[in-house]
Amino acid sequence: MNAFVVTPTKVTTEMIRQMKGREKIAALTAYDFPMARLLDNCGVPLILVGDSLGMVVLGYPDTTHVTMDEMLHHTRAVARAKPNALLVADLPFRSYETPAQAVANAMRFVEAGAEAVKAEGGRAILESVRAIIAAGIPFLGHLGMLPQQVLEEGGYHIKGKIEAEHAGLLADAAALCDAGAFAIVLELVTPPVARELTQRVPVPTIGIGSGPDCDGQILVTTDLFGTSPGRIPKHVKPATLGDAMRAAVTTWKAAL
Ligand code: KIV
Repeated sequence: MNAFVVTPTKVTTEMIRQMKGREKIAALTAYDFPMARLLDNCGVPLILVGDSLGMVVLGYPDTTHVTMDEMLHHTRAVARAKPNALLVADLPFRSYETPAQAVANAMRFVEAGAEAVKAEGGRAILESVRAIIAAGIPFLGHLGMLPQQVLEEGGYHIKGKIEAEHAGLLADAAALCDAGAFAIVLELVTPPVARELTQRVPVPTIGIGSGPDCDGQILVTTDLFGTSPGRIPKHVKPATLGDAMRAAVTTWKAAL
């Protein structure tokens, strides 16, 4: 069996949309050229330059420290791999507070090689989302636990446990769909609520720590590899590449 199923054609947002109900969407993050090449060689249809970059590559305690310049630098590196995968970039904290700012920053990502952008929130950021889509830039939603709100919320909390959150998620998802989002990431949403959202919305849901019933799954790639510098979330079954890397260095050093 060939382990590398290379996506033969360029993936578009419409192709991602059409995967709903037909084929599970595998999405992963990449922050540099070799990682993007590797994921693309494996046929991953959606690559996200996530602002998780801040925690797993740049050494920040959370994603609120990530700047536009840092995101653009890494988006350009990923884009140089010319992936067949759809290339999405994360708008960092406070980069989409007004519609004008959101469009200007989304345009900078397109110039850097991204084909779509993602931002965190639903009704609270709807004017910015509408402006991005009106400017012709495809938009990926992100609901549930919003890492850019970690300081405000005092941690990373599962969403959907109480009725107000359940109702809020349904309203946010409907608003993003009406605005024209091509898919929605659901992060740390309780599995029953993620399942209900997946059944109700016309676009694919891409889950992370939200149970098995979303239309696709996304992970921070260094969590999947087991090479993230911090704690690896419970929803990931990490490979042991970190151990293999440490063994390689130790073996090399001992043989000097
Ligand atoms: O920043 C990121 O990597 C993300 C995903 C994991 C959804 O937003």
